[in-house]
Amino acid sequence: MFAPTEDQRSLIETVGDAARRVLGATLKEDDEAERFRKEYISELGAVGLCGVTTPERFGGLGLGIVEYALVLEEIAKVSASYAVSVAVTGLPQAILRDFGRPDQQDAWLPGLASGALLGAFALSEPDSGSDAAAMLSTARREGDGWVLNGTKFWITHGGYADVYVVMARTGGPGPKGVSAFLVPAGAPGLSFGKKEEKMGMRASPTVELVMDNLRLPADALIGAEGEGFRVAMAALDSGRITIGAVAVGLSQAALDVAAPYAKQRRAFGQPIIEHQGVGFMLANMAIQIEGARLLVHKAAWLRDQGQPYSHVAAMAKCAATDCAMAVTTDAVQVLGGYGYTREYPVERYLRDAKVMQIVEGTNQIQRVVIARHLSRAYGP
Ligand code: CAA
Repeated sequence: MFAPTEDQRSLIETVGDAARRVLGATLKEDDEAERFRKEYISELGAVGLCGVTTPERFGGLGLGIVEYALVLEEIAKVSASYAVSVAVTGLPQAILRDFGRPDQQDAWLPGLASGALLGAFALSEPDSGSDAAAMLSTARREGDGWVLNGTKFWITHGGYADVYVVMARTGGPGPKGVSAFLVPAGAPGLSFGKKEEKMGMRASPTVELVMDNLRLPADALIGAEGEGFRVAMAALDSGRITIGAVAVGLSQAALDVAAPYAKQRRAFGQPIIEHQGVGFMLANMAIQIEGARLLVHKAAWLRDQGQPYSHVAAMAKCAATDCAMAVTTDAVQVLGGYGYTREYPVERYLRDAKVMQIVEGTNQIQRVVIARHLSRAYGP
């Protein structure tokens, strides 16, 4: 996709207006206080932004993931934290849409798509992040229900969400022993531990989730028993496109501050953009952003076309988040001493960028996915 259609252009405008109106006023204060405002999600949801790809019959916009990427890029230009929140509340929606039963879809999708309810996704554990299939949390059948035990780490929206998709082991070791469960807030045995104090994405809460004989009804299972790893991987494939889109938005925001600054700031008798050292830095920022955006859109387009896209989603996630790290670092450099202070937003952009090379699968794991694809594509 080389240019947005008329409809996409008007969607981008709507999102930009809503993001600035809802999120703009408290950005700095919420970053400093590490404060998440759940009501902002409802406000973004009221204009359709929480259920972009969820079918219209469930109250979503029923659009493709290409449009979803455009939406997230636009929100991220204002706040990467809330763009991640929108992406994360989208994960259980994607899972329910693709793997849920009709009763589960009816129960949760309308609330999640409207932003009235908040969703979360729980896969990682204290000792299993990249090696997700090594998880230790268990789910055993008891009576006509399930009992879950274990600890999940790094849970975006932990303690705030209304519903969690939680992976736990119902069988033996490895990926085939994992199942997915729908866990409503307030389920007996569900509690929350430490809230992480983070370097960036500080308006997005990251919390430990504890399951201590957590009791669920039999129908809490999503998909078939033993299908949980596939459910999680499929969700992460599209999640990687969304994180790529957030990273592109953040990168663009950094360039949108750095370039005008470099035109206005003078040194040695001319605007610093005229000095090749700075001008080339800005040019490299623009090259990386354009490339990352195209890759994100290509992965999204493949997904919308129903074509294999896991490896391209991994490429997009890597390229876009590495781009965000490089571009936000250079934006601070262009602004010099000012860039390092809270007077300008670029120091926040830099702090927000780092974690995107880690979440939704580290960039090393993305390269594992790409290398495995190459091995399959080129080998017998
Ligand atoms: N889609 C569907 N199924 C998939 C799949 C995909 N993308 N990738 C793998 N599978 C299936 C495989 O086909 C295989 O099934 P079969 O045996 O039936 O063929 C099964 O899953 C196991 O696959 P692998 O042998 O490839 O599994 P692995 O243990 O080697 O792991 C991995 C592969 C890519 C490294 C995976 O573990 C991985 O992605 N790790 C990173 C986890 C991750 O991204 N965590 C982020 C959590 S969320 C977050 O960060 C924050 C938040 O708040 C949301």
